[in-house]
Amino acid sequence: MTTATGDAIKMKVKQARLEESVGKRVLLQGWVRSRRDSKGGFSFIDLNDGTSIKGVQVIAEKALENYESEILKCGIGSSVEIIGDVVASPAKGQATEVKALSVKVYGYADPNEYPLQKKETSYEYLRSIAHLRPRTMTFGAVFRVRNEICRSIHNFFQNQGFIYVHTPIITASDCEGAGQMFKVSTLDLLNAPRKADNPAEIDFEQDFFGKPTNLTVSGQLEGECFATALHSIYTFGPTFRAENSNTTRHLAEFWMIEPEVAFCDLEGDMDLAESFLKTIFSDVMNNCADDMEFLNEKIDNTILSTLKGIVESDFERLTYTEAVSILEKSGEKFDFPVKWGIDLQTEHERYLTEKKFKKPVILTDYPAEIKAFYMKMNADGKTVRAMDVLVPKIGEIIGGSQREDNLEILERRMKDFHLNPEEYWWYLDLRRYGTVPHAGFGLGLERCVQFTTGMGNIRDVIPFPRTPKSADF
Ligand code: 4AD
Ligand code: MG
Repeated sequence: MTTATGDAIKMKVKQARLEESVGKRVLLQGWVRSRRDSKGGFSFIDLNDGTSIKGVQVIAEKALENYESEILKCGIGSSVEIIGDVVASPAKGQATEVKALSVKVYGYADPNEYPLQKKETSYEYLRSIAHLRPRTMTFGAVFRVRNEICRSIHNFFQNQGFIYVHTPIITASDCEGAGQMFKVSTLDLLNAPRKADNPAEIDFEQDFFGKPTNLTVSGQLEGECFATALHSIYTFGPTFRAENSNTTRHLAEFWMIEPEVAFCDLEGDMDLAESFLKTIFSDVMNNCADDMEFLNEKIDNTILSTLKGIVESDFERLTYTEAVSILEKSGEKFDFPVKWGIDLQTEHERYLTEKKFKKPVILTDYPAEIKAFYMKMNADGKTVRAMDVLVPKIGEIIGGSQREDNLEILERRMKDFHLNPEEYWWYLDLRRYGTVPHAGFGLGLERCVQFTTGMGNIRDVIPFPRTPKSADF
């Protein structure tokens, strides 16, 4: 981009591309990270425009006409435009610096009020100023990495011919059957219409959609309709769960990526999930090297070696039953005792990934009772073709399965889960007409960002977190 200032044409550059401009005159716009005034009659301004973790050192000399009147008033957070010459920096710490010819101030930030001063601030506090936290080094890095993960996800699927499908956000079905749904209604909460024949019940026929609806907990069921037509599809959208889990790994609103593939069994599903995660991690290391180095130094100094190790080795694959027996023999003291049939807790998942195998683990063939109705029943009649991908520190990052493709068995499973097959007539039609083996999984985007960046709390990897009792901004 070029911009005219006076009679000369200057290149407007982003700081991420500054090194290409040595010897050139440029125009930079950004926010002041710090200002240091030297006795020699000039100031160092650490400028950041958000395009990379590395700031630009700008040298502003006293001779500039607004040096006393404006530049010396620019504290942390002030927004400025600099026209200057890019030179190779004599000092350590940066490859280039900019000698300012002019400094224009867009807006000051009063140092007595601006909440982001140099001192370290806690993540809890930064959550209370979530509108400003993207301006910090850490959150800038996290959200650039989040963006790279999203790009990598789309590339991964698009490069293999998967079709991106937009599944509905408002739906009448409960995919996971867990009943943890936010209701969507335009009825008056205080004065909802009652059924004529049963005043104890609300008459949803008078509601906007003429029936009870909710925010989606998963796009999978609708995704299956498209996989059994277009072969390989993926969804990428917001997902809502009203579970009252105040943990570092749960959000009430999160983003999920759900591929679904026709003519695919559990083996194919696991292969897809493994190459998917490896591609994401290597893309992030290749394309966000500066941010990842910063996070590795600042947040968790094991993330780079962990990601590198994961990309270079195979995931461990074993059945739920084998995992339970390993846990029982482990001699570990777990808060939740282990026995066949229990839903594995994070402490169990972490033992397997961190202590036993020291790498990602894919567990398969879970007890039917603890998994969703749509998973394919095994011949043993007790377990289903489920798979969870577990990673160190986070536990479950992906949940998936081969789907039940037999109409009768699926109807029976629905009844076991107290779901009405008539309401899912369209989902059953996929088995009624030209049924095929098919499989898919869901990756929680925020768990993936959390794992990649090393951030301890999932609330710090989504722009504006929604959790129980908290929906600010
Ligand atoms: O294991 P889940 O519930 O699987 C499904 O929803 C399937 N329909 C996916 C499929 O087969 N198409 O959720 C998938 C992933 C989890 O592994 C986890 O990473 C993430 O979604 N997840 C959450 N992330 C943040 N906050 C929550 N409350 C989450 N619940 C699930
Ligand atoms: Mg799950």
